[in-house]
Amino acid sequence: MKVVLLPGDGIGAEVSAVAAHVLRELPLQLELEEHLFGGAAIRETGDPLPPETLAACRAADAVLMGAVGLPELDRADVRPEHGLIRLRRELDVYANLRPARADGVDLLVVRELVGGLYYGQRGTRPDGTVFDTMEYRPDQVERIARRGFEIARGRRAQVTSVDKANILDTSRMWREVVERIAPDYPDVELDHMLVDNCGMQLVQAPGRFDVLLTENTFGDILSDVAAGVTGGLGLAGSASLGTDRPGIFEPVHGSAPDIAGKGIANPAAMLRSAALMLRHGLDEPAEAERLEQAVDAALAAAPTPDLGGGATTSELTGAVLSELRR
Ligand code: IPM
Ligand code: MG
Repeated sequence: MKVVLLPGDGIGAEVSAVAAHVLRELPLQLELEEHLFGGAAIRETGDPLPPETLAACRAADAVLMGAVGLPELDRADVRPEHGLIRLRRELDVYANLRPARADGVDLLVVRELVGGLYYGQRGTRPDGTVFDTMEYRPDQVERIARRGFEIARGRRAQVTSVDKANILDTSRMWREVVERIAPDYPDVELDHMLVDNCGMQLVQAPGRFDVLLTENTFGDILSDVAAGVTGGLGLAGSASLGTDRPGIFEPVHGSAPDIAGKGIANPAAMLRSAALMLRHGLDEPAEAERLEQAVDAALAAAPTPDLGGGATTSELTGAVLSELRR
């Protein structure tokens, strides 16, 4: 099985090195191939997603990604994030799964990943007005909604579809499509929630949710909130899946320039993304489970500063490796 590793920027490179190390310890025939991506790729080639990188990703069984983003490029015309947005679209990984777990909380954000505001028309008018547009086609909504219902079947069978149907036409269509296909999943309970209310409920009562089904931008925001109430971004991994391989597996966090180079990044989100890759991308559920358990045990033994502990990245990595060898 071939995995393309895109370390990217900041702590992305640090946690990617950890993932490579840990994956090589597993009893699997994994070929890891590193490619240039993000800010690092802009520096060398001017393009955050060079053609060779894209071709390698297409040919891989899975893509494992660190994080992209460089503060010095925040205002540039070509930004690292553009590479990420393009790669998601090129691989058509429309279903982004972001689990959040803590005591009494076990929810999954199912975020539409290749439509909406991120990909709509944008521009600047002569008077200086700048616009981004949110656009969805019904078939884009239908495929993510079906995915959400299907995934819910393997969980507690509750879907909360999140929108802003009191205001946005895209949300009204979203709700109609979800309602239309819901009868195909009579075993799954469905409710609808407005996104602002959902933000509050996530903070006050996250335990009430099972699957949160939502569009791209709402999912971006709500998945950070969900991570925040379940231990922070250092713990949150994600899987982005299309119809076939390869999927993209990446932490919810960014490149964290404030702590990059200090050796204190929490690699758990990346390792959990690697576990999601084993389960959803490479059909290795047993190794996924083993890795997840090793990460949980290591986090309890050697918490990093984001969790109030004092462990470094390499100490936590060491703890994961010794759990795996037990
Ligand atoms: C995420 C990130 C990305 C997004 C950024 C880096 C473009 O915030 O994966 O949640 O907005 O999708
Ligand atoms: Mg985000």
